[in-house]
Amino acid sequence: MLESPTHAANSLEPHWMPFTENRDFKQSPRLIAKAKGVELWDHKGRKLLDGSSGLFCSPAGHARSEIADAVHRQLQENSYASSFQIGHPISFTFAETLTRLLPDTIDYAFFTNSGSESVDTAIKLALAYHRAKGEGHRNRFVSRARAYHGVNMGGISLSGMVRNRETFSLTLPNISTIRHTHTGATPFEKGQPHEGADFALDLEGLCETYGGNTIAAVFIEPIAGSTGVLVPPKGYLEKIREICTAHGILLVFDEVITGFGRLGERFAADVFDITPDIMTMAKALTNGCIPMGAVGANKEVYKTITEAAPANAVEFMHGYTYSAHPVACAAGLASLAIYEKEGLFARAKELTPYFLDAVWSLQGHPRVKDLRGYGLMAGIEVEAHGKKVGAQGTALQKAMFHNGLHAKFTGDTAILAPQYIVEKTQIDEMIDIFRKTLDKVEASA
Ligand SMILES: Cc1ncc(COP(=O)(O)O)c(C=O)c1O
Repeated sequence: MLESPTHAANSLEPHWMPFTENRDFKQSPRLIAKAKGVELWDHKGRKLLDGSSGLFCSPAGHARSEIADAVHRQLQENSYASSFQIGHPISFTFAETLTRLLPDTIDYAFFTNSGSESVDTAIKLALAYHRAKGEGHRNRFVSRARAYHGVNMGGISLSGMVRNRETFSLTLPNISTIRHTHTGATPFEKGQPHEGADFALDLEGLCETYGGNTIAAVFIEPIAGSTGVLVPPKGYLEKIREICTAHGILLVFDEVITGFGRLGERFAADVFDITPDIMTMAKALTNGCIPMGAVGANKEVYKTITEAAPANAVEFMHGYTYSAHPVACAAGLASLAIYEKEGLFARAKELTPYFLDAVWSLQGHPRVKDLRGYGLMAGIEVEAHGKKVGAQGTALQKAMFHNGLHAKFTGDTAILAPQYIVEKTQIDEMIDIFRKTLDKVEASA
C-alpha cells in the first residue's frame, strides 16, 4: 500500500467499510486473502469454510478458472463499450442466454451493476409502464415488513429493515408496508409454513384503503433472505399474485438471493410456480465474480413502454455507465455455462434434505430459538441477549470466523447458504463448527 501523508503504510484506516463496525474491525480485522471452491484463507493463512457463499453470490465456488479465462479473453478483446445508443455483441448473447433461463414469460433483461440498482430500476420500470398506459396516477408501492431490497434510495424506501432507513431522513413517499408472514407460532418448521396464507389479504386491505388502481407494484422477496430466511406460507404467494392481477398491479419478485438455483430450481418463481411481471437479480448472475445485476421484464411491460414512446425517442430514460458491461457479461455467460454443465441447480436440490437435516440437528441446543429453511438456505436464530438485538449474532459471527466458518449473520440469525458444489462432509464440518462455537461462546451483552 502506498504511503500517504495521513495514513501509515499498510493502514486499514482509509477504507471506509460498508455495513461494518469500522472502529472495531480495524482493531481486530478479519480478512479473506484467498478463496477457492468452498474454502477461504484469512490473512494469517488460516483455513475457513464458506458457509454463506460469500454473501449468497458464488454457488459454483470461488476462483473458477472457466470464469477467469472468459473474463481475461473479454478484457483483451473489448474491455469497455457503452450501451447507450451503441452496443457490443456479448450483451445481446448474454441477454438471450439469461432470458432462456428465466420463467417463460420474462423475455427481456435490463442490466445493472447490483441488486440495489436492480430494485431501483424496477421501481422506475413500474412507474414508466403505468404512465405509458395512461395510468400515471399509479404511484404507490407496496413492500413488506422485514423486507430487504438493497440500499439505494428506492430500495431503502421499500425496506422493512428500519435501521437501514432511520439515519436517512429522506425517502420516497407513497410506500405502504404489509406484514411479513413469520409469526413464530411454529418454530422449527422445515419448508413452507402451513398457516399464514391469509397474510396476503393485507394487500387487499391496502387496495380498499387507497384504491387498487393507485398501486404501481408490489415488491416481494419470495423468501425474505437478509432478515433471516422467512419462508412464505403455503398459498400466500398465490394469493398475492391473484390480488395483483385483479387490480392491475405489477408483481415484482426480488430474486437477488433466491435466484439461480438457491432453492433447488432456477428461480423461486419456478419453485412456487408463480409468475411475476418483473424480477430483480444480481449476486449469482456472475457467480459473484464481477458486479452485475439484471431486471427481467415480461413482454407486456417492455412493449407498453417502448411502443408508447414516439419513434426515434429513447423509450426508458434510465441506464448506468456500466449497464451490460462486456466483462460482466462474459463472467455471467461463463457462470451460467458452469451451472448448466455441472447440473448445479439439480445438485442444490439433491443436497437440500441432507443440508436441512444437518441444520436441524441443532434443534434442542439451548441457545437455538428457531430454525427455518428451504433449499440450500437456512436461518438459525439464536436467543438474543436481553434486549440487545444483534449483539449475540455479531459476537457469534466473529467467533465462527476464528473457529473456521464464515457465516453471515443478520441480527441474531445466522444465514447458512453453502455453495452448490459443497460436499456433505463439508456441511457436517460447518454444522460442527457452528455447534461448538455456540457451546463455547458465552452469551454476551
Ligand atoms: C433481496 C435483495 N435485494 C437486493 C439486494 C441488494 O443487492 P446489492 O447488495 O447487490 O446491492 C439484496 C442483497 O443482499 C437482497 O438480498
